[in-house]
Amino acid sequence: MASESNTNSTSFTPDSALDLLFSPDLISLEVRNAMHPDVHIRPLASNDYRRGHLEVLSVLTTTTDPGEGAWVSHFEALRAAPRSYYTLVMIDKGSDQVIGVGTVFLERKFQRGISCVGHIEDIAVDPKQQGKKLGLRIIQALTYISENSGAYKTILNCSDKNIPFYQKCGFERKENEMARYT
Ligand code: ACO
Repeated sequence: MASESNTNSTSFTPDSALDLLFSPDLISLEVRNAMHPDVHIRPLASNDYRRGHLEVLSVLTTTTDPGEGAWVSHFEALRAAPRSYYTLVMIDKGSDQVIGVGTVFLERKFQRGISCVGHIEDIAVDPKQQGKKLGLRIIQALTYISENSGAYKTILNCSDKNIPFYQKCGFERKENEMARYT
């Protein structure tokens, strides 16, 4: 997996110089103001493959490297489905590297007056950066996007060991998950 840490460029890249998945205006000001001063929150950018996006995701589960071309094609496929995929990243301002990730996917519903449901997915924080409230801020920012998009609920699946974390983020246990792997 390629990252800028393997090259010479480590200076922080502002949002204005990036090609982003969605408008950064959708990120809660309250969350921005509560961020650690060394960390920036923004939408996924088209060149975050080079900032270690996949390395952080691999904290969560097996993440094989598809190569930069396939990664960028996938980014474009997400962007081609408007108002559906909102992936946020946490950037370490010193290294310009991704240190946290998370997504909310909006599922459109006929029920509840043509409403939608926000599905929170793929939350991961670099192990060296855990315990600094980055996970909490990612969940707060994703929930804000979900609720401001009209979702009547925001849901997620997690392991038993992560239940206390999500309870601290304001979620409660509800029903069961069923899965069938291919
Ligand atoms: N058990 C109990 N409490 C926890 C746990 C836990 N496993 N993880 C965090 N907390 C608490 C923290 O102590 C903190 O409490 P406080 O406010 O009283 O101090 C609060 O939750 C917020 O913690 P953060 O510092 O924001 O958590 P962090 O940045 O470390 O991120 C995360 C938590 C995302 C679970 C991280 O540990 C991680 O990346 N784990 C590996 C990947 C993973 O399991 N991701 C979640 C998969 S589920 C999904 O994607 C929908």
